[in-house]
Amino acid sequence: MSDLLNLSQRGSHPLYGTPFVAHGTSPCPLRRISVNIVEIHYHQGILTVAPSKSITNEDMNKSRRYQQVSKDSGNSIETGSIRKGRVYMTNNKNVTKVRRVVLMVSDLNRSIKFYEEVIGLKTRKNEKNRAYLSPDGIRDLIILYQPENPEPAPAGSTGLFHIALLLPAREDLADLWLHLKEHSRWLAGASDHSVSEAIYLEDPDGNGIEIYADRKGVPVKEMGTERLQVEELLQHATGNPWKSIPKETVMGHIHLKVRDVPEAVEFYRDYLGFDLMAKMGNHAAFMSTGGYHHHIGLNSWNSLGGKKPGENATGLDRALIVVPDRNTLEAIKRRLVEGEKLIEDTQEPLIIEDPSGNTLQLVVEE
Ligand SMILES: [Fe+2]
Repeated sequence: MSDLLNLSQRGSHPLYGTPFVAHGTSPCPLRRISVNIVEIHYHQGILTVAPSKSITNEDMNKSRRYQQVSKDSGNSIETGSIRKGRVYMTNNKNVTKVRRVVLMVSDLNRSIKFYEEVIGLKTRKNEKNRAYLSPDGIRDLIILYQPENPEPAPAGSTGLFHIALLLPAREDLADLWLHLKEHSRWLAGASDHSVSEAIYLEDPDGNGIEIYADRKGVPVKEMGTERLQVEELLQHATGNPWKSIPKETVMGHIHLKVRDVPEAVEFYRDYLGFDLMAKMGNHAAFMSTGGYHHHIGLNSWNSLGGKKPGENATGLDRALIVVPDRNTLEAIKRRLVEGEKLIEDTQEPLIIEDPSGNTLQLVVEE
């Protein structure tokens, strides 16, 4: 434990992030029906709940946890859409966000072992040189891909800074911290950003991983980076044995290394429609839709003027970006064509590169 405390006290991760902005106040139907929930199952935009005649504390926790993670990740629940044991979940208007990533790794089996044992994801499917990792056995958050001749990305190149897995609740972060006592070699830092508390790791190829929980009601001006107060966090641990990452975990954001931050901001704002939420001079920026602190982080701390790594380089292969509806996707496509970033007859799936060569695949929310 002492190693972990020391790690937190080092507060090694640089400042980023902005305070949470709530996504509105529409009533949440789950609150009304929570007494009936015994099972929550989310798949392709539909949240299914199974009814029960009795309520347990676990049921209530599931309800609370779902409400939190759905709001944090830019989702909302459509009011009045409970029918026959189903709650229909939709996106907030204009919310575009990262759904999952494909990561290039040099040793697939080694990485699977890491993501299962350390991060707690499940391998939903494993075929040839690909593995599909999921928190619930249904939604993939990470796809690992081992190319034939993998190689490390050159220093200074653009690409992945970190992926960021958003946990439903602070209790989950506390439980994770205790779990990581046995895996401290993979830890890279831990910070309190006011808007969130975060633990940082690196996978066997050096791919950055943030696992975090959002904190509500923090004024924007109080945003910052302090060392994680581990002892205080651990007071919220559930005491239950750690089994896996929570089923409700989502990809909260992705942070990219770019060659030029103002250039990248212009691209993500003017073509993809993200709002600039915060920036640190010309070397870091944080962008989102729907008022979240950030769905996309950008920095040039170690990649200023850098180039896209080679096609077999470990790191980010692509990020899957979901947009709320077809009109949004068509508008993005039109802007890209007008800006000569895309040729007009490009077929879907829409696969593009940002100015730094980071690959994005755009799809409509299912
Ligand atoms: Fe992050």
